[in-house]
Amino acid sequence: MSVVGSLNVDLGYRVRTLPVPGETVLAGDRSRAFGGKGGNQAVTVAVLGADVGFVGAVGADDAGESYLSHLRRHGVDVSGVAVVPHVDTGTAIILVDDSGENLIVVDPGANSAVEPGWVEEHVRAAEPAVVLAQLEVPVPVLESMAASLAADVTFVLNPAPMQADPDDLAKLLQRVDVLVPNRKELGQLARTAEPETLAEVQRCLGALSFDGTVVVTLGADGAVVREVGGEPTHHPALSVDPVDTTGAGDAFCGALAVGIAAGRELSDAVRRAIEVAGRSTLHRGAQPTQAPLEADIAADGS
Ligand code: RIB
Ligand code: NA
Repeated sequence: MSVVGSLNVDLGYRVRTLPVPGETVLAGDRSRAFGGKGGNQAVTVAVLGADVGFVGAVGADDAGESYLSHLRRHGVDVSGVAVVPHVDTGTAIILVDDSGENLIVVDPGANSAVEPGWVEEHVRAAEPAVVLAQLEVPVPVLESMAASLAADVTFVLNPAPMQADPDDLAKLLQRVDVLVPNRKELGQLARTAEPETLAEVQRCLGALSFDGTVVVTLGADGAVVREVGGEPTHHPALSVDPVDTTGAGDAFCGALAVGIAAGRELSDAVRRAIEVAGRSTLHRGAQPTQAPLEADIAADGS
């Protein structure tokens, strides 16, 4: 499988409650960890034992070098990761409160410097059965990559973060086989308020101008699946007491793509993805490893 997307270094701050506009709060502690929706999804795929190559970019800096070693250590093929001079590796500021909820600000850095030709070429060379992407790299880059995919490649898109006007995604969505939005993203795509109840989720699905398979991630409410031509079905979540929900959606997408690549029934793949995502909230950080970045830097001797 190829994961096309972002690699960020996450600076995480633990706070009692998330600040409201104009408010200052003190953090309990701070950590640095590997993140980025692309990186989180790729590491999940690798940890679940599937073959994965990453296509994206880091800056020519210590963080980029350290991220490449981290991916290699997990068995991710990094031949598709460009090292871009004169830009920084992407970073994210993440606030996590006592209930495990988060707020995230991303500075894309090298993730937005990735060249369409580079991405197209490396995805083609990998000959993947499944391509998994998110929206932390420029949409035109994804469009040209998607347009170059062979017809039998399953393209899974996690439209996160959904900052674009949904119209700007129209061309990309034409090539998407499986769309994996969360509740908020589904509302944005359907141009309605964020759906609260399952009935509202169902209404949003009806209002979408996307005919492919949709898997909506609903956090503590599980997931809703709408297959092509079928009625939406609901799958409940695991009952967990989350420590940190950061990256739970990424764990879900990685695990879902693994199931699809393995040829499992979609409902089976979704149930496993719910389990992997639920378990990912029980530890801190966005990836299924608790090793802090400092330890990785020390291990690399840089
Ligand atoms: O989905 C969580 C991720 O979003 C974080 O790792 C952060 O880097 C941002 O990309
Ligand atoms: Na987590």
